[in-house]
Amino acid sequence: MTDRYAVIGNPIEQSKSPLIHTAFAEVTGQDLAYTKLLAPLGGFAAAVDAFRAAGGKGMNVTAPFKMDAFAYATELAPSAQMAGAVNALKFVGDTVVAENFDGVGLVRDVVNNLKCPLQGRRVLILGAGGATRGALLPLLSQGPAELVIVNRTVAKAQALQSLAQQHHTGAVPIRALGYDELAGQTFDVVFNATSASLTAELPPLPATVFAPACLAYELAYGKGLTPFLKLAQQAGAGHLADGVGMLAEQAAEAFAWWRGVRPDTAAVIQKLNVPLV
Ligand code: ATR
Repeated sequence: MTDRYAVIGNPIEQSKSPLIHTAFAEVTGQDLAYTKLLAPLGGFAAAVDAFRAAGGKGMNVTAPFKMDAFAYATELAPSAQMAGAVNALKFVGDTVVAENFDGVGLVRDVVNNLKCPLQGRRVLILGAGGATRGALLPLLSQGPAELVIVNRTVAKAQALQSLAQQHHTGAVPIRALGYDELAGQTFDVVFNATSASLTAELPPLPATVFAPACLAYELAYGKGLTPFLKLAQQAGAGHLADGVGMLAEQAAEAFAWWRGVRPDTAAVIQKLNVPLV
């Protein structure tokens, strides 16, 4: 029998997850159907209950339901606990297991696809919202020389710094700064995990932060050359990337978790890639 999966959100029309998972199912020969599920605001639990009652095996969760999924789960993986949000669910009898694969997807894209090892590198991450929170432990697990979190509201960067320090078992120095404290500092990898690109805004970032061979990585996907990437390009950053690979990699992690087989992501990344111009 065909196993059923879905991505749930509101809005949901924009989601690429059905395309990605259907492609993965084809190449791995898995018998599954993956659809979009629009739930009304306040209607997350009822929609998931109905999907499970109809035999649904798992779900991806997107905005605005990542916290609802956190509350709905009966077992939270450490990644979901650390991120404070859930992006994948697996239904096993009465158990609802919850994961968050965004952070590990980001790291896999950078290290495996973009061939940019993070070990020993100076890493800067812009923003102190949910995207940064989910990325912290996966980034730290790579053993960078340091991890600096910069945010307009410095207190939020400091809160994430303490959270990361509590959970990180290694010895990577973690700092929290305001943008005006970045003068004179350079980084090998700079991640934009703010929501600024969604409104074509530019965080107040000095162009001097990009080291010559630097990777500038925009976590948002499909926005072309965002103001952040343009700044990095003008500053001579060696490599620019957006979040298409992160999107594909987090999906592959979920697929492997559900189905026990890990699909290759290259074809999906190529298909979804939007040129950075
Ligand atoms: P997400 O879950 O996508 O991370 P979020 O939790 O709303 O979204 O966090 C958005 C992040 O983008 C915050 O760190 C925010 O900075 P503040 O905490 O100071 O508000 C950051 N952000 C949004 N617009 C920005 C801009 N124009 N410049 C710099 N940072 C911005």
